[in-house]
Amino acid sequence: MLQRHASYAAASPCSMDPPPFCGLLPWLLSHSVGKSHLASNTLTWETSDLTLTRERSFQASAYLRSKSSKNTGPEFPGPWHLPLIGSLHHLVGALPHHALRDLARRHGPVMRLRVGQVDQIVLTSREGAQQILKAQDANFAFRPELTAAKIIAYGCRDVAFSNGEYWRQLRKLCVMELLGAKRVKSFASLRAEQVSLLMRDVGYAATAGKEINLGARLNELTNSIVVQASFGRRCPQQKKFMDTIKEVIKMSSGFSVGDLFPSLKIMDVLTGFSTKLIHYHKKLDAILEETIQEHLLSRRDDEEDLIDVLLRLKDQGDLEVPISYESIKALVIDLFAGGTETTANTIEWAMSELILHPQAMNRAQTEVREAMKGKGYVEESDVPQFAYIHSVVKETLRLHPPFPLLFPRVGQETTQVLGYTIPAGTRVLINVWALARDPKYWHDGESFKPERFQEGDDKEFKGNDFEFLPFGAGRRMCAGMSFGLSTLELALAQLLFHFDWALPKGMTPGDLDMAESFGSSASRKINLHLVPSPRFPLRSKSFVCIVANYKGIPRTSRAHDFFFMAGLLGFGCELKLAKTKLQR
Ligand code: HEM
Repeated sequence: MLQRHASYAAASPCSMDPPPFCGLLPWLLSHSVGKSHLASNTLTWETSDLTLTRERSFQASAYLRSKSSKNTGPEFPGPWHLPLIGSLHHLVGALPHHALRDLARRHGPVMRLRVGQVDQIVLTSREGAQQILKAQDANFAFRPELTAAKIIAYGCRDVAFSNGEYWRQLRKLCVMELLGAKRVKSFASLRAEQVSLLMRDVGYAATAGKEINLGARLNELTNSIVVQASFGRRCPQQKKFMDTIKEVIKMSSGFSVGDLFPSLKIMDVLTGFSTKLIHYHKKLDAILEETIQEHLLSRRDDEEDLIDVLLRLKDQGDLEVPISYESIKALVIDLFAGGTETTANTIEWAMSELILHPQAMNRAQTEVREAMKGKGYVEESDVPQFAYIHSVVKETLRLHPPFPLLFPRVGQETTQVLGYTIPAGTRVLINVWALARDPKYWHDGESFKPERFQEGDDKEFKGNDFEFLPFGAGRRMCAGMSFGLSTLELALAQLLFHFDWALPKGMTPGDLDMAESFGSSASRKINLHLVPSPRFPLRSKSFVCIVANYKGIPRTSRAHDFFFMAGLLGFGCELKLAKTKLQR
């Protein structure tokens, strides 16, 4: 089994200057591509999946084209490299996006970096990003195959790492059916419930005068929302599933030995990297398989969760490229991997910045409290009026984009970008973190100033301002932007409305460690701990949702409707969290 994985993993796209083993590529493509049957929990690979084989042939032909294409134009600037490790030593000791920004300052906004045996073009200019993500979007709408994605996502059958026609179909399905505006809206009551539970827990800490690990609790919030949106109910194995996803994310940075040294892919097996991934894959697969079986036994048309939707589309059979159970599982893994940490981390960074900038905190709290003081609680429909809070979110995403280097792209054809020739099959990275702080594009770019977006700077993160790309741009732009933002802005508005915030006792703003962790996403190295104190008591509507939820009353039942309506009409009891002295 491991041998099969080793050969499967070796079918990776090659760099501009490929290692000797790449001569085996066409053979590997025809012998190792296939689908896994994990329902029985054994890994066996078949060679019958034509769609994916076609995607692999793209990788092979890209490599052949890159070999034959003449490298016209000037040589790429870039740091010097050593024979075996390439430029890897330039990246040691710093976070990759920091190290690449420093290198770009020396070598320029278009730079070639040899990481191990793989050439990467790193772009750190607005014009470069515009070329890749807009002007030549069709050519660069491809991802390299990374070992982790291949093993975890059933041979890159997910949306984030598949390519070509199969990806186009899956992407369409995501945009139209899973993550589109209508579907996101349909999860509004789920978000309301989960954010209320967060407020309840913050409330407990507030009445006890204790600090709360906000980072950890925000992760629970986004996990629960994605679990219930996907699985439709509380998943008894949620913790196991999410812990495994976290481990997988850590291992998916694209820096495995095999990813950087394609000729040494066997090292992924020898070091236990692949074995570990296979172990995680099996764990995830077992939970997903059980969930799909449950859904098949009790189909619901009234309130579909995302697995219901995917099963319905699979059965309808009118998709141009049919989807399989593996596609469904891979897609669900994407939703968890892409939709949980990103959102939670952004709220955590926003609260970190606000606690360090009391004026901004005060302005955001005043905005939501003034607007909602008569009503006493914040609903999703209120959020669009909070212009300053929206600017706080934008400023947070500018300084702390969850994916500072986007996901890597690979060009299908050899092409010219800013006067340089980029051969087909070369990986391209865009340092969006550096772009969003560059003094060429931002006044005082290192400082947290939400008001910049209200005082003349009308840059948006929708993929048209290429110096501000927290969600990427073009065809491969984030598919879950509305889903993420709706949770993010509601949670932030409620945290600011109901509570005042302080650092734990004895801590000054200078003590707050703002370091980022090393990994594929830029989260806080140390979870944010804050001390809340109640300001506006939690109101009945939220509370009634919590009761219904905790009594296990299904969201679709009449009993739930009763509880919910009771809350709406104001019959429910208020959570008397606020002490009298604090009801100012
Ligand atoms: C603050 C929240 C989020 C941020 C900042 C974010 C950011 C990103 C970025 C930068 C990319 C890569 C874009 C590129 O290569 O140009 C991406 C891709 C993706 N994101 Fe998000 N994301 C967020 C939330 C979500 C959520 C909530 C979901 C789903 C529930 C999601 C699903 C995806 C998917 C499926 C892709 C792959 C798209 C493709 O390759 O076609 N994201 N995201």
